[in-house]
Amino acid sequence: MAESLFVPQTSDRRKIYDEIAPQIAALVEGETDLVANLANITAALKEAFGFFWVGFYVVKENQLVLSAFQGTIACTRIDFDKGVCGHCYMTREIVIVPDVGEFPGHIACSSASKSEIVLPVFDKNGEVAMVLDVDSDRLNDFGETDAEGLHKIVRIIEKLIYVNRE
Ligand code: SME
Repeated sequence: MAESLFVPQTSDRRKIYDEIAPQIAALVEGETDLVANLANITAALKEAFGFFWVGFYVVKENQLVLSAFQGTIACTRIDFDKGVCGHCYMTREIVIVPDVGEFPGHIACSSASKSEIVLPVFDKNGEVAMVLDVDSDRLNDFGETDAEGLHKIVRIIEKLIYVNRE
């Protein structure tokens, strides 16, 4: 695996996603431990973009349970019908929240978090296996570029899950 991440010095997030996606694919290749891979993916995203918080909540025991993340301490369990993460789980869609203060039921793990994007990660049966949650300390920080870029990363994780569950 690669030992360092090359991040282009640009504020163009699309370029950064395009550059880091293949590096992340290479980073996880050959490693079968899912949490080890999720941990490195959160580190890569944090390093590339400086996001305030980036991490995974995994479907377990009828809840979303905190898994690998980078950032401040966070709530460990989220009910399926709670928060932005729960909304993503229930709707099975990418959720972008420009102002978390305006989102009914948002779970404030940190008052510094101002906007958020959450993506579902599907297993091979089409069930949501986990969600990828990225938080920013700036309002309105996420858009279509992030949805597309992070979805590329999610596809890498989905391939890992397929392998791990076969
Ligand atoms: N804000 C999320 C909870 C997780 S933290 O942001 C890390 C939510 O409303 O689901």
